[in-house]
Amino acid sequence: MKGRTDVIVGVQWGDEGKGRVVDALAGRSGVVVRYQGGANAGHTVVVGNEKFVFHLLPSGILYPGKLCVIGNGVVIDPETLFKELDDLKKRGKLLARLVISHGAHVVMPYHKLLDRLAEGARSEGSRIGTTGRGIGPCYSDKFGRVGIRAEDLVNPAILKEKLMMNIEQKNEILTKIYGAEPLEADTVYETALEWGKRIEPMLGDAFLEIHNALETGINVLFEGAQGTLLDVDHGTYPFVTSSSPCSGGACTGAGVGPGRIDRVIGVTKAYCTRVGEGPFPTEDKGSLGELLRTKGGEFGATTGRPRRCGWNDLVAVDYAVKVNGIDGLALTKLDVLSGFEKISVCTAYEIDGKVRKSFPGSCAELAKAKPLFEELPGWKEDIRSCRRFEDLPSAAQDYVRFIEERASAPVILIGVGQGREDTILRGI
Ligand code: IMP
Repeated sequence: MKGRTDVIVGVQWGDEGKGRVVDALAGRSGVVVRYQGGANAGHTVVVGNEKFVFHLLPSGILYPGKLCVIGNGVVIDPETLFKELDDLKKRGKLLARLVISHGAHVVMPYHKLLDRLAEGARSEGSRIGTTGRGIGPCYSDKFGRVGIRAEDLVNPAILKEKLMMNIEQKNEILTKIYGAEPLEADTVYETALEWGKRIEPMLGDAFLEIHNALETGINVLFEGAQGTLLDVDHGTYPFVTSSSPCSGGACTGAGVGPGRIDRVIGVTKAYCTRVGEGPFPTEDKGSLGELLRTKGGEFGATTGRPRRCGWNDLVAVDYAVKVNGIDGLALTKLDVLSGFEKISVCTAYEIDGKVRKSFPGSCAELAKAKPLFEELPGWKEDIRSCRRFEDLPSAAQDYVRFIEERASAPVILIGVGQGREDTILRGI
């Protein structure tokens, strides 16, 4: 029997709680794969009283005996990777095996520098609000075919040639465009060689590990980072990240064919958040946004920035269901909505005086979208101890059903608290 595959994708602008959903499913998978993004991600998993935040490691790393894979679509910041591995080891939790694809690209010091300098040079209104982790410049080099791949770190001659060429060019940009100090090529080379020594035992044919596992009946979980609306193709361009968080990204970023994907699970918060710049139709800049931020602890896991907050946007959820081919939704942080008299949900936009029910493909249109809300009754009860759908107050059940109906996808997992056990499973 062949193994099954699940892809976990973010439905909104990231921070939906994908880490906890991956953690909930990792127990029945043998392999957990990160397929895109880099250390811009911040996946939080709470086990008992312990909190883990992963920027690069797949969230399945907490399970003994699992294989964790960093696919070719990921960009690796070796310093963050080593820090995460060291931290887990210190806490006695480094129990899984890690394989890094030869083809994953490496975030170099000049990528981080250029990311921050470019962001600083952008004018108000065109700023993206990047995480400063070098993501955009690293993917630019990848697609410009001058990037440094993980395999290059263990090939000193190739590494030297590629690095010297890159640093010569980057120094021109650093000094002439940004008036910054040039980088010392030899120092970067020495650092990269050291990274290579540590990475070498972890390098492998990631796609083969995945296919071998599937052949022997082992299930594989693909863990998306960021979210649909940050996808470089399908998100709110240019206020997006530089990778493909959508489910299609799992195919290119890990080396599996679309026909080999059995199920796509979309993760959405019960409300909506965004960190960084760009359109966000349901954003509430007043007291509601503040309340959601405080109740939901909405501060970035990577940068600590306060997240922008608002009611859920089912126009966007419906779009994500279509773009990703979502088979089931995981609804997280439902407990944060307890105590609201009424809960609003955006079910259409008004753009230039016209009502629109589908997500606009044009970013300029989206920037003009005013949310049209429908109101549902709220509930007062603390729902954190609910473990079955029937345990939820009827208003909470109705809210879940409303999402299912409008987004045309069943809600198969509900998060009712921060912990691993605070979960309602519905046929997942
Ligand atoms: P970058 O990925 O650092 O280039 O940032 C581009 C945009 O994506 C910015 O608006 C970031 O705030 C946002 N972003 C990147 N990674 C995440 C994430 O993991 N969660 C939420 N937003 C993110």
